[in-house]
Amino acid sequence: MDFKVADLSLADYGRTEIQLAEHEMPGLMAMRERYGDAKPLAGARIAGSLHMTIQTAVLIETLVALGAEVRWASCNIFSTQDHAAAAVVVGPEGTVDAPAGVPVFAWKGETLEEYWWCTQQILDWPGDTFANMILDDGGDATLLVHLGVEAEKKGQAPDPATATSTEQRIIFEVLQESLKVSGNRFTDIANEVKGVTEETTTGVLRLYDMMREGSLLFPAINVNDSVTKSKFDNKYGCRHSLVDGINRATDVLIGGKVAVVCGYGDVGKGSAESLRGQGARVIVTEIDPICALQAAMDGYQVTTLDDVLDVADIVITATGNKDVVSVDQMRRMKHNAILGNIGHFDNEIDMAGLESYPGVVRKNVKPQVDVWTFPGEDGAEPKSIIVLSEGRLMNLGNATGHPSFVMSNSFTNQVLAQIEIFTKTEEYPVGVYVLPKHLDEEVARLHLASLGVKLTTLSDDQASYLGVDVAGPYKSEQYRY
Ligand code: NAI
Repeated sequence: MDFKVADLSLADYGRTEIQLAEHEMPGLMAMRERYGDAKPLAGARIAGSLHMTIQTAVLIETLVALGAEVRWASCNIFSTQDHAAAAVVVGPEGTVDAPAGVPVFAWKGETLEEYWWCTQQILDWPGDTFANMILDDGGDATLLVHLGVEAEKKGQAPDPATATSTEQRIIFEVLQESLKVSGNRFTDIANEVKGVTEETTTGVLRLYDMMREGSLLFPAINVNDSVTKSKFDNKYGCRHSLVDGINRATDVLIGGKVAVVCGYGDVGKGSAESLRGQGARVIVTEIDPICALQAAMDGYQVTTLDDVLDVADIVITATGNKDVVSVDQMRRMKHNAILGNIGHFDNEIDMAGLESYPGVVRKNVKPQVDVWTFPGEDGAEPKSIIVLSEGRLMNLGNATGHPSFVMSNSFTNQVLAQIEIFTKTEEYPVGVYVLPKHLDEEVARLHLASLGVKLTTLSDDQASYLGVDVAGPYKSEQYRY
């Protein structure tokens, strides 16, 4: 088996944590029980690009239990938990000397070159074959295939010299290399792929863009917008893992501090609540009047970042947008202010501007924590800020991401979406879809018992009064939860 992880000897530790996680992931375990015999994913060759954590290990082994073959990479250079990666490679039946699990290409602290190498490893399969399903988080695997097909159509890859960022240059180089070896590698992959299931807001945005442009090459299920994904993982997951990341990175007392959360969508709502839970005085910034009003009515001060730079101790971006914090704003922050991003990509914070700021000095404190010191200007003392995970999502870079129970909701949606596209391919012409509401309700239902939740049952009379079926769905498609 080909694979590349940091250290296979961590497999035992990983396996123990996987077993503990299984207990906390009732949705995924129910999928194994329900579909383990029927194996609806037999014949699926799934290329997974999603944070290689313990929770993801339970997802991977669920896909395998349902008959799929799987190859996996992480969707972030810092988010891999090396013991999880090792355990997945070794597998429940294998040993360190004779691994018998799933090929994983992921380790914590990849370079960007390594990251894009790993992404290619999940698309190319042994025996000159390719993945026929993609499970994506942020859309990088899907993006690479689409860029590859475009280059092959033109017979020419974009010139790396024209790239506007290091990452883009690396992607262009990958495309050039690929074209040298084969003029139809990515076209063959795209022809093979039946569909993609996308995990997060940012990846979904890319898919809808491609659909609008008419460039989308295969059908996609938007897993993010299952209610049991975005209203749970994005919100309650971040409510847990945001402060976890700040604590592990800095151990600064959050109570009493002024914390700014940029963006009050699902991630921002969970992030603001977690900071308030620690006693921080939380300020929200927003561009959307509805979300701004929500934040105000939830009791947060809402203003612009510029207005509060001189009082903020902690600034967290949660927008999925770019250029939310400029280097000029970083320069104006309080001494030793903490700056982190919990959105998907590292372009929320202008890291390139920070790195090239004249006279700025970077001191690495420990992995994924850096103090950046600006030179004293106009006679002022030099001033520092603490930047988490180099501007990449800090809940996975500085901590271990969301806990198992909430990820069980997200990943049960992923499994259902994979089954849906793989087994009903003809029902999904190229386009972007969400799972039907009855499946969303089913995912929630699978998680009630372990929290001791007792549901009230509708009477027939009540159901007809509301105009719904006793067995659901209980809400219209327009309902917002
Ligand atoms: P969302 O669309 O619900 O919320 C983003 C909010 O940011 C919106 O309300 C928008 O109006 C606001 N916004 C946009 N530009 C802004 C600006 N310049 N200043 C202030 N506010 C601005 O999206 P969601 O689901 O909250 O996701 C946000 C990001 O987090 C995405 O990149 C998503 O992929 C990522 N994500 C990260 C997770 C993690 O574990 N770190 C988990 C789930 C999502």
